[in-house]
Amino acid sequence: MSSFDVLVVGSGAAGLTAALNLAGTHKVAVIAKGALGEGATGWAQGGIAAVLEEGDSFEAHVRDTMIAGAGLNDEKVVEHVVGAAPEAIERLARLGVPFAAGSGGERWHLSREGGHSHRRIVHVADATGSAVQQALETAAARHPNIRLVPDMVAIDLVAGRHATNFSTSGAIHGLYAYNRKTKRVETLAARATILATGGAGRAYLYSTAPRGATGDGIAMAWRAGCRVSNMEFMQFHPTCLYNLAVKNFLITEALRGEGAQLKLPPGVKGGGTRFMERFDERAELAPRDIVARAIDHEIKRLGLDYVHLDISHRDADFVRAHFPNIYERLLGLGIDMTAEPIPVVPAQHYTCGGVVVDLDGRTDAPGLYAAGEVTESGLHGANRLASNSLLECLVFGEAAARHIAASWGELPEPPQIRPWDESRVTASDEEVVIQQIWGEIRRFMWNFVGIVRTTKRLERAKRRIDMLRQEVGEYYRNFRVTPDLIELRNLLEVADLIVRSALSRQESRGLHYTLDYPQMAAQAKDTVLVP
Ligand code: FAD
Ligand code: SIN
Repeated sequence: MSSFDVLVVGSGAAGLTAALNLAGTHKVAVIAKGALGEGATGWAQGGIAAVLEEGDSFEAHVRDTMIAGAGLNDEKVVEHVVGAAPEAIERLARLGVPFAAGSGGERWHLSREGGHSHRRIVHVADATGSAVQQALETAAARHPNIRLVPDMVAIDLVAGRHATNFSTSGAIHGLYAYNRKTKRVETLAARATILATGGAGRAYLYSTAPRGATGDGIAMAWRAGCRVSNMEFMQFHPTCLYNLAVKNFLITEALRGEGAQLKLPPGVKGGGTRFMERFDERAELAPRDIVARAIDHEIKRLGLDYVHLDISHRDADFVRAHFPNIYERLLGLGIDMTAEPIPVVPAQHYTCGGVVVDLDGRTDAPGLYAAGEVTESGLHGANRLASNSLLECLVFGEAAARHIAASWGELPEPPQIRPWDESRVTASDEEVVIQQIWGEIRRFMWNFVGIVRTTKRLERAKRRIDMLRQEVGEYYRNFRVTPDLIELRNLLEVADLIVRSALSRQESRGLHYTLDYPQMAAQAKDTVLVP
């Protein structure tokens, strides 16, 4: 058994922020299930939202966030996060994140994205996440009190029932994790554990999220007795590249912020013309749920494979300077975005729901905290406003750290923990089954629990989940764990939480749209699942 003061699960923006804020006073271990930079943070393109120039206001940022969230945001949380945003950006700048400066000598160049009434997104060209990840990782690697542990896959949280002197305490004392290098399960004990494991996008066939976004933290917290909320609100990004070889490359919303237009492709009635104005007066800059649904509608109505996103009317040097990575990537695929439109489709992008936390990042289980995409903090409501997510990671990563440090004396020393049950030593003889079930889940989630839902489709998905639950459960009990099996078990758990949440919401609100209940109910209510 290895012991630490604090254990952080996840090395993205939320996890590393928490670790850096604790390391002055505590010994922290940060584990990641693969390489340290493999989470969604490193993939972020657009940037981070904050009120940073005159003419903009906290009130406007709060209002935009709440309009997108369709009545389900917690206003107190929104105000807190929006108010903390400028300082969070300053902290990143001090760590060396080279945010773009304005061309007229302004400190920041601010871009605009859907749902924002003002330019307020700081960015590092079109690869903000990579710069943020690099700066946080470098700072963490330099800190003597932070131990970075890649290739360590958390399996389950450790509570009183795992102690050698069994107790019924629901307090969390660390976790069991699979070490990819030794292929053994280790026990990691800590006085406080922070889940910063990101989202669950890979429950869907088409997603912009990285391979590891399998909802591990949500599933672990759920199994440990924590409430999970608003899982039906899966965000679909309107503009993922349509390409038969490259399935998950995002085309940032900042492109639409700089005037890119959505058009029907040639060869259909109205080909080459814009269509968003028919759906919303904000046209291409309407919130994501509206744009994604409009594209989905046009694709289905006209039997298209994709629609076009066109910025070729802007000056070519401007486009290359602002979107250098996207430009190069597309050019490599034979698309010159300065001269021709980009084929795009919606794809799953962000998990709005998650583990319920308070303003200090506390979950329902004593000693267990959570921050970032794994949580439902009240910030996003029924639909996340663009570029509010990295911000949430920074604010809640810091809040969790602050609360742990302030309440250190009240957190119990971990007990002696029983080692992982090594009786399950049989290696599976049918690894291929895991891949098959994984593919099956992602396909029916895409088809039955996607952008437009019906009760019948959700029930279809639920029946499949119930059947697979038995199979996967048996598999998990009988065979030695592997990273793929750990992820499959979590993916199925999270798919179930999504479908159950979607079935219980008998209205259309934000990202949840069902043909059976197309209206929004008078009263806005969170979906809270209690284990
Ligand atoms: P992540 O950065 O996803 O990190 C998760 C970490 O948890 C990883 O280190 C992973 O290894 C680890 N982990 C997971 N499970 C386990 C386990 N079982 N055991 C051990 N470790 C585990 N948001 C914005 O605000 N602005 C943007 O411009 C933006 N652009 C985006 C572009 C793309 C393509 C995508 C996919 C998302 C974008 N987002 C953006 C969303 C944002 O990037 C994420 O919500 C945010 O980075 C999540 O950070 P996180 O720290 O919560 O998790
Ligand atoms: C994007 O750049 O379009 C993604 C921004 C986000 O997800 O917040």
